[in-house]
Amino acid sequence: MTIDLISQDLDSAISSKSNTVLVLFSSLGDDKDKKPVLHNKSVAKHLETNLEEKSISGKSGETVLFREFTHSSCRHLLVVGLGSAKEITHESFRQIAASIHDAVKASKSDEAFIDFESLPAKMKSEDNIQAVVEGLLLTSYEFNELKSKKDKKPASNVLFHIVLKESKNAAYKKAFSEGLAIADTVNFARFLGDMPGNLMTPDILAKKAVEAAKSVKVKATVWDKARIKKEKMGGLLGVSMGSDQEPRFIVLEYNGAAKGKKPVIFVGKGLTFDCGGISIKPSAAMEEMKYDMCGGANVIATVLAVAKLKLKVNVMGIVPSTENMPGPSATKPGDIHTARNGKTFEVNNTDAEGRLILSDALVYACEQKPEIVIDAATLTGAMVVALGNTHTGYFTRNEKLKKTIEEAAKASGEWVWNMPLTDFHVQDMKGTYADLSNISSGKGAGSATAAAFLEQFVEEGIPWAHFDIAGTGWSVGNRLKYCPKKGASGAMIRTFVEIARSFER
Ligand code: BES
Ligand code: MG
Ligand code: ZN
Repeated sequence: MTIDLISQDLDSAISSKSNTVLVLFSSLGDDKDKKPVLHNKSVAKHLETNLEEKSISGKSGETVLFREFTHSSCRHLLVVGLGSAKEITHESFRQIAASIHDAVKASKSDEAFIDFESLPAKMKSEDNIQAVVEGLLLTSYEFNELKSKKDKKPASNVLFHIVLKESKNAAYKKAFSEGLAIADTVNFARFLGDMPGNLMTPDILAKKAVEAAKSVKVKATVWDKARIKKEKMGGLLGVSMGSDQEPRFIVLEYNGAAKGKKPVIFVGKGLTFDCGGISIKPSAAMEEMKYDMCGGANVIATVLAVAKLKLKVNVMGIVPSTENMPGPSATKPGDIHTARNGKTFEVNNTDAEGRLILSDALVYACEQKPEIVIDAATLTGAMVVALGNTHTGYFTRNEKLKKTIEEAAKASGEWVWNMPLTDFHVQDMKGTYADLSNISSGKGAGSATAAAFLEQFVEEGIPWAHFDIAGTGWSVGNRLKYCPKKGASGAMIRTFVEIARSFER
């Protein structure tokens, strides 16, 4: 699939192309009988009856295809609904772009012209252009990597044009290329997530990060097991002991601001397969635990995206990576390990491993004297129970950071929900024989007590937030049309990029 932004008027752009489709927007009218509006006056005239009868309703995501529509210079016409004019946001455009993508693909056309020119002026915004680019590219993502040739579906190779007279305007061009950069990196993170555990080990994840860093101005450093041991990362090391695969500690650095400027640090859980270890998980859906590195993948993608966008900010991405397996040397329930900051913890359930590898990474992050630290992790099943796959729950006790997060999420179109984190949750994580226990002594609030455990490894005074993406990291396609039904979603990359952007000033 290819997208461009063109400024010709439709007729001259389309001339003499054969299998083309013209994409027009419709919306629900805001008069009392909600008479649909077709945002292209000349075509609307030809479709008056359809609009009267509401066979084009304008409802969000509705697609109506008119084959061999002779009243335009394209061969076919696709009308796509935007919904109620009052409620349309850039996120509506992202989702609608998914409908456009799928309908054009199903129509077997090989070239589509999306008419932005006929939209009301306020909808012709940079945000909406960026959203359409993201929506199209994100929807085109497929994970066919591992299917043998005969089963492989042909990749979609539709050429999409966004038609807008003022497209030469620098702000539109910037929005367009930002959309491309962001969607590309989100798709890269999805690919890392979708790869199965045997083909996405800690070592492979590290190599993929190093390789990707080469194409942008990002410095990558990878520590092996010996170095991790030397660096006193007892959490990461302890979790890795049950596996034949060596752990890795991955650090990505992007310097877009002055050297002395404090970095914005993202930390991501890179558990390439979590079977629970000795406290082994039940078999049902255990295969999904290949996605337990999505926090790490999304952090890697965030740094790459920030670098592609050349944001004037220093950003660091830190990903502790390991498998959680029940091999002969595995950590046993009751074992006690020491994290990088000297705090000790009892491992009373080896399946609560994410917090252990993150403890060392958070300590390391704070040593870098950061502006803020944000982590992303598929940390608790309790998060899925609490919020399902609609919202990502985040925890922070810093009001200013909370505001930054809310604004960034709004700007990116992602849904987040602020969760409670209190001293009571901290109480529940006290150990009997060590400083801390890795599971709560209390009942319920499993996501908050996990966050409280993480907080013990963040230096006081450093603004920190924890994002539990257990529910939103994969299989969100029933809510978001531009995400694969079952695959990795790339959750929070767009929000994290916006958070980084907020530190440009
Ligand atoms: N990776 C899991 C959390 C998870 C489970 C994410 C299901 C998405 C779907 C994590 O390592 C884990 O196993 N957490 C335990 C913690 C418990 C033992 C305190 C959990 O949530 O059950
Ligand atoms: Mg686990
Ligand atoms: Zn896990």
